[in-house]
This record gives sequence, C-alpha cells and structure tokens, in this order.
Amino acid sequence: MARKAEQNINQMTFRFYDSVVQRYSANTMTHMIIAIDGPAASGKGTLARRLAKRLGYDYLDTGALYRLVGKAVLDANQNPESEMDATRAAKSLSSTVNPEDLQSPELRKDDVGQAASKVSVFPAVRQALFEFQQEFSTRKRDGGNIGGVILDGRDIGTVICPDAPVKLFITASLDERASRRFKELSSKGIKTTLDDVLDDMRMRDERDQGRDAAPLKPAKDAHILDTSTMSEAEVMERALSIIRAHIVETEAQR
Ligand code: CDP
Repeated sequence: MARKAEQNINQMTFRFYDSVVQRYSANTMTHMIIAIDGPAASGKGTLARRLAKRLGYDYLDTGALYRLVGKAVLDANQNPESEMDATRAAKSLSSTVNPEDLQSPELRKDDVGQAASKVSVFPAVRQALFEFQQEFSTRKRDGGNIGGVILDGRDIGTVICPDAPVKLFITASLDERASRRFKELSSKGIKTTLDDVLDDMRMRDERDQGRDAAPLKPAKDAHILDTSTMSEAEVMERALSIIRAHIVETEAQR
C-alpha cells in the first residue's frame, strides 16, 4: 500500500515537472532546442522520440535525411561514394523532402545505412541538408512562443545547433549497440547475423568519427550518457533531470 502511494506521488511529481518544462518556453518566450548526438544504436533515437512525446516537442531524425539521400543514390543505381552522385541526390531532395518520407521502413535497411554513412562524408551533401535542419530547429509553433524541438544525429550540438541550450551525447559500447541493432532488425523480420551487424557498425563508427566534415564527437558543453547498462526508462529519467536542471539554473540567473 505504502509502495503504491509512493508510486502515485512520484508520478504526480513527474507530471508536475513535465508541465513546468512544457510551460517554460511559453512563459519565458524561449524556444527550447534539445540536441542529441551519438553513434549508431546508442539509444539516441528512442530517447529523442520519447522525450518529444512526453514534452510535446517537434522531432527531427536527421539520420533519416542522410538515409534518404543514400537510398536515392542506390535506387538510381549510382555510387554513394561518388561525390557527384551523392551531391546531386542531396540537392534534389533538400527542396522536396517531407516528414512522411522520413518514416519509411525501407530507410532502416543495412545497405541504406551504409550508403547514408558514405554520402554523409561529402561537405556538399551536408551543406545541401543544412538549411532544412536549421529551419526545422528554429521553427516556432502557436504564434511563435510555445514549445521546442528535438533533433538527433551526429553533428547537431557541434554544427547544426551549436547554441542549443541542452545538448546530450548518447553512447554505449560497440557490443551492446550491435546487439541492440541486431534485435531491432530481427524483430522487423530483416534477416542478418550479429557478426554482420557488428562489422557494419564498426565501419560506420570509423567513417563517422574519422571524416573531416562534421565528424561525430560530443560538443564541449554536451552531457555524455553511456547507456550500455541503462534501461530505456533510466536514460529517459536521466535526460529529463538534465533538462529540468538546465531550466532551474537558467531561472536562477534571471
Ligand atoms: O540509426 P543509426 O544511428 O544507425 O543511424 P542514423 O542516425 O540513421 O544515421 C545514418 C548515417 O547518416 C550515419 O551513419 C551517419 O554517417 C550519417 N549521419 C550524419 O552524418 N549526420 C547526421 N546528423 C545524422 C546521420
């Protein structure tokens, strides 16, 4: 009984805090931007989606933009390692892309992920997608003063939204990430092996971290969360407490 009452009080407290975060941008006329970066299958997408739902913020999965470019190149029987092919696809997509395109399950396939990682090394490709992401991050709702946005990717805190008030860098060990991605793909009926997923991830990590243009790295002021041994709920609570702490700190300075 006491346990149940405790759970109820905890839930009420969390709901109260959520409403404080939600009202914060309206009350202070601040457009909240939450930047989430990290390597493949670190849990950043799951966290970003859950946070967006809980806080009522808009969400952009920027990896899906690069995946769309990679897929367009593959569909045209072109080479994702060709700067010309990749840039042409990115330029043409940047003006026509709409939110539904980013939801396609086709984008989640391994070969599309590899192609995305190949096309994303080219500065001209990143440049072509820059404006769409920036525009999304500053887009305001409801008369311009309510709400916020969440973007996840590799360079959100460093390049796309360097002034984002809250930056999270979500990471996990390579083995743990490979095992999560293997389970995810298997549950969707996509046939693969753990070894193949591990190899794919290792290659993508190297390419993402080693490229000259916007390499994957935490922004200087990012909060780093290693989720290797954390549950989804724990990651969510940790992120929410970082966001709340930011708000309390900012309020204290006003
Ligand atoms: O879902 P997963 O973490 O496997 O990858 P993703 O976020 O869908 O991104 C696919 C690929 O796009 C990554 O391997 C990166 O090479 C690239 N990417 C990027 O360069 N910059 C971003 N902001 C997002 C993704």
